[in-house]
Amino acid sequence: MCGIVGYAGSQDALGILIGGLESLEYRGYDSAGVAVYDHGKFEVTRATGKLIELKKALASKHRTASAPVGIGHTRWATHGRPTETNAHPHTAGRVSLIHNGIIENYLPLRAMLEEKGCHFLSETDTEVAAHLLNTLLEDGMEPLAAMRAMCAQVKGSYAFLALDSKNPDRVLVAKNSTPIIIGRGEGENFIASDIPAILQHTRRIIVLEDGDLAQITAGTVYIENKGTEVARKEEVISWDPITAQKGGFKHFMLKEIYDQSRVIGDTLRGRISESDGSVKMPELEPLRAKAATLKRIVLVACGTAWHACLEGKFFLEEFAGIPCEVDYASEFRYRTGLIDSDTLVIAVSQSGETLDTLGALECAIGKGITLAVCNVVGASICRKADMVLYTHAGPEISVASTKAFTTQLVALQLLAIFLAEVRNSMSANARRNVLHAMLQLPAAIAQTLKVDSEVASVAKGFFQARDFLFLGRGRCYPIALEGALKLKEISYIHAEGYPAGEMKHGPIALIDEQMPVVMVLQRERPLFEKTVSNLKEVEARGARVIVVTDATDEDLKGIAAQAIVKIPFVAHETSPLLLNIPLQMLAYHVAVLNGTDVDLPRNLAKSVTVE
Ligand code: G6P
Repeated sequence: MCGIVGYAGSQDALGILIGGLESLEYRGYDSAGVAVYDHGKFEVTRATGKLIELKKALASKHRTASAPVGIGHTRWATHGRPTETNAHPHTAGRVSLIHNGIIENYLPLRAMLEEKGCHFLSETDTEVAAHLLNTLLEDGMEPLAAMRAMCAQVKGSYAFLALDSKNPDRVLVAKNSTPIIIGRGEGENFIASDIPAILQHTRRIIVLEDGDLAQITAGTVYIENKGTEVARKEEVISWDPITAQKGGFKHFMLKEIYDQSRVIGDTLRGRISESDGSVKMPELEPLRAKAATLKRIVLVACGTAWHACLEGKFFLEEFAGIPCEVDYASEFRYRTGLIDSDTLVIAVSQSGETLDTLGALECAIGKGITLAVCNVVGASICRKADMVLYTHAGPEISVASTKAFTTQLVALQLLAIFLAEVRNSMSANARRNVLHAMLQLPAAIAQTLKVDSEVASVAKGFFQARDFLFLGRGRCYPIALEGALKLKEISYIHAEGYPAGEMKHGPIALIDEQMPVVMVLQRERPLFEKTVSNLKEVEARGARVIVVTDATDEDLKGIAAQAIVKIPFVAHETSPLLLNIPLQMLAYHVAVLNGTDVDLPRNLAKSVTVE
């Protein structure tokens, strides 16, 4: 969604703002803009399209002086089309303002302001905030008091950054339900919607809380909540700026696929005691006392994280013996979820900012026990849930999620073993075997990555197809769904994922010589034989079959597919994660061959902070 960057210091703000916005490009946007205070007035520059267009517009202004304070924004349109007029910053009198979120009561506010004589230029909800703030400042209020009064009238979610031309040394900030962080520097301070935007400059961050207002100058950071100054903890982020770069790969997505061997190791590190078959996760200790009486688990998420939940259900039910339900966060939050104190509600989210996941989690607060499985330290869902299990995937930049997904699978599997141990639902030996297999994952992933060139050549034979069907059974069914989602997200080819056994009840009608079918074939019995039967059924109808499998050569005798991609076998419990990797690669290579914008696919956003 929208990206936000602010700066107050002694360097030229423009360079910092553009650099920051570039590192937020992965969030998805359709226009961009910056405002700096220059020679007694705001210099606002906006453009539709990618940042290159904004840079061209800035270059045409032939600036000579530098400006030490400024704000920048990438907009993902919600209210109003992606035009230059609707792009942020919005200017009203002495105010220039950017916003991430949605102002729900903008229509009555706009009518009220128009009645007072304010003239609106855009179709956005945001412009009301600029006018409102300007009106309050012109009424004689001090900047922070005016921000406070403006926020009191606005309903909805927001991260606001505002400049006031009569107080040009500062950036005003307000936050409610939309993430915003402050980066502390020496003689300079930064504001951003996300960590990568400021990682080049500082690792010292302060995460603002809902209701916080802040005022940032080159040398000071003042934060208040409900009119009283508050001290927010400064954290030092361990992310290395280099890990947020492409590291020599053509796209972030490919880099992140290759990162998986390392980050799965990071997610497991220090959490497994193989000898006694237990997991060591102090963050889950509050769950220990409740684990024995848990009656139900509800997993909520969106997109790829939802597929991780579907896979997690297999482990949680099999290992811990607790019935699990998986729900789309956007559905769960508007349904009677019947959550009680014996229910564990798990919200899974890479960003921790997906509005629907946050909303679903909020529905469970005060009713059940809540756990966030998240990749971003201090993200909103982490601050709301009773407990947090971090996934340690590191910054995921590509919109299409890869390493976040596989680390979520690992985190959920660790959780299942933790619960199994406490509930005594799995023998120590059985737990030890699964944990041993998990510890082999980094090496097994490194081996699996070797199929990359083979998958790239398979992609050459299939990239022009208009539809794909992905089939799998049991633990490979969520993997088939995720394979289809990845392909459609980045190559714009229609793809459906289906449980292979359900194929006869509909999708089989679609199959002809044009239709590639990707069969995720796990060697585990009895589903191996069942899936092979489904494979024969699609083959008999002329489908072009790609098999992705961990089966043995012996198993595969008699299977005539157009392509068979074989990966190493470690254990049935870890196979789904490994089988997912060739599917990530297939989506990637098909997209590259189709010439799409792999890391920034059209219409998609990395972090969906609106409903
Ligand atoms: C968007 C992204 C997906 C992601 C989903 C949930 O749709 O494009 O890649 O899976 O949001 O995001 P979250 O941050 O909650 O995991």
